[in-house]
Amino acid sequence: MIVSSRSEQEYRAFFALGDDDLAGRVLDCSAGASGFTAAVGAAGGDVTAVDPVYADPQALRDTVERSAAAGAALVDAHDDRFTWSWYGSPQRHRALRDAALATFLEDLAARPERYVVGSLPDLPFPDGAFDLALCSHLLFTWADVLDAPWHHAALTELLRVAHEVRVFPLVQRGAGEPVGFLPALLDTLRDEGRCVQVVPVPYEFQVGADRMLVVRR
Ligand SMILES: C[S@@+](CC[C@H](N)C(=O)[O-])C[C@H]1O[C@@H](n2cnc3c(N)ncnc32)[C@H](O)[C@@H]1O
Repeated sequence: MIVSSRSEQEYRAFFALGDDDLAGRVLDCSAGASGFTAAVGAAGGDVTAVDPVYADPQALRDTVERSAAAGAALVDAHDDRFTWSWYGSPQRHRALRDAALATFLEDLAARPERYVVGSLPDLPFPDGAFDLALCSHLLFTWADVLDAPWHHAALTELLRVAHEVRVFPLVQRGAGEPVGFLPALLDTLRDEGRCVQVVPVPYEFQVGADRMLVVRR
């Protein structure tokens, strides 16, 4: 799987985050090499990142650099399915990723306690440890390899550790095909008594992928 390094600015747009959203205990799940945790932590936020890749920090820079090339190839292969309206240009897209990677690597070295090894659907946190959990580019993005039962288990686990969960995007990687099981999955969560909303966000890269999922306990 690709390990990418999206920036705090991208996360704020993916999840329509304001400062109030970041005032509580925040989890970035499947955080990879994102610079979000470092930036929010530097501003005084209470933020934790979790990802299986933190088990081998030495390999991370190479993995992320290889992933950036793979990600760029995916965009090139589907260039009619991407819009540069938010980024402005491929150069700004790349600059944000490079800066976020540098921020992440520096923080990982300085504050390793913020970066926890763990995998959905079994996270190493107690019930209700976080007010807000964010999940960028794992659920739904990888729906070709992670099936509907896995997604249900993953969301249930995120709702065990956090009061509110936000997920972006809601389409598959590359061409941004819809996720066939998404409507039934949202119905199941509603049937289980969860508060489920699909909310517009101020970001679009894959054409039409401009909404996040918000689920509350
Ligand atoms: C495409 S990257 C996204 C990284 C970061 N969230 C971002 O948007 O830049 C997907 C991440 O999901 C992580 N991942 C893969 N399987 C996972 C699992 N079962 N639980 C949590 N994270 C997982 C990968 O290690 C990788 O870092």
